[in-house]
Amino acid sequence: MAVTAGLVGVGPVGDRIVRCLKERDFPLAEPLRVMATRRRREILGDQEFEVHQTSAELFVGLEVVFFAGREGAKGASIQWAQTAIDAGAYCIDNGSDFRLDPNVPLVVPEINMEQVTADTRLIASPNCSTTQMVVALAPLHQVARIKRVVVATYQAVSGWGQAAVEDMERQLPQYVAGEVVDFDPSVFAKPIILDCLPHIDRFTDSGYTKEELKMVYETRKILGEPDLPITATAVRVPVDIGHAEAINVEFEEEITADEAREILSDPQQAPGVVVIDGPSQDPNAVAVRDAPEERQYPTQADVKKDEYKDAVLVGRIRQDETVASGLNMWVVSDNLRKGAATNVVQIAEEMLKRGILG
Ligand SMILES: NC(=O)c1ccc[n+]([C@@H]2O[C@H](COP(=O)([O-])OP(=O)(O)OC[C@H]3O[C@@H](n4cnc5c(N)ncnc54)[C@H](OP(=O)(O)O)[C@@H]3O)[C@@H](O)[C@H]2O)c1
Repeated sequence: MAVTAGLVGVGPVGDRIVRCLKERDFPLAEPLRVMATRRRREILGDQEFEVHQTSAELFVGLEVVFFAGREGAKGASIQWAQTAIDAGAYCIDNGSDFRLDPNVPLVVPEINMEQVTADTRLIASPNCSTTQMVVALAPLHQVARIKRVVVATYQAVSGWGQAAVEDMERQLPQYVAGEVVDFDPSVFAKPIILDCLPHIDRFTDSGYTKEELKMVYETRKILGEPDLPITATAVRVPVDIGHAEAINVEFEEEITADEAREILSDPQQAPGVVVIDGPSQDPNAVAVRDAPEERQYPTQADVKKDEYKDAVLVGRIRQDETVASGLNMWVVSDNLRKGAATNVVQIAEEMLKRGILG
């Protein structure tokens, strides 16, 4: 069954949605209707599209609309989601505007797809750093009940949109040439090149940034644990694509690192997770670095590999020896794909499978 679909927003996330729809053979009944703030032609994926200036009549006849626009009062979903719904579409939103609305499900298909029914006209997709964390945590929560989470993130510049990628790319040759590095203060507060900024999104009165609070509130909503203690430090690092997270998690029940590795390696129990852990497979570990105990682990560069581009990679799974039952782990994923585009396309695929779409 084929579906008529629209896309609002053609930044890095919009581009990845186009790619995901094509790669995953999403059954489109007609070419994707693409919209943004102004009309032009644009290459998305490897295809040229007519980009329309968003208007009410463009939503008529669409069954599903993917929103990948900016957030806030002038953003795409605040301005256009209700119009799309009134025209008869289901809306799947990448932005944060509706994520904590009690009437809007916040969905990661591996975890809580059952919250989407034929009556759910608006579905929110979580923040990129939340998505990869919950995909790794939910299977462990099922088995050993999480008691507390402490997370520090290492987030790519593409998480802040195309302007941030361009800012870093401009700074790199300036840095190498020994020139003064300029930066756009409307993107990041300081130059990002060869530095790490513990500042993602706006600061709040509490001293936490909005990104850190998103990880707290969104994780609680997705796991259905409104009081779960979670605390986060979100850091921007000079990486183009891919977020990494050092997660410390304490459990109510006993769970060992070996058990966690086994659970997360089982695609039935932990869909979407790939464990990269255990003894190093690198011959140089012994030969050059004289380190026979060296282990393998995922890094942000791995998410550019075809086999890992939609996965949540988990490594460095270790017992936290300071508590009765706790683990440390390292979680990596592509912020533009599983953190955004792949997740919304998977939601639409599931809606098709369940007869909600199509
Ligand atoms: N980047 C990530 O890792 C990530 C992960 C998860 C979620 N998200 C969320 O996904 C969304 C898109 O992210 P991005 O990085 O691709 O953003 P981006 O580079 O800023 O692109 C935003 C796009 O939305 C369009 N747009 C903005 N306001 C609009 C409006 N009122 N009506 C119609 N179109 C509008 C813009 O149009 P013009 O091109 O005409 O300006 C642009 O094409 C954001 O809400 C972001 O928070 C991003």
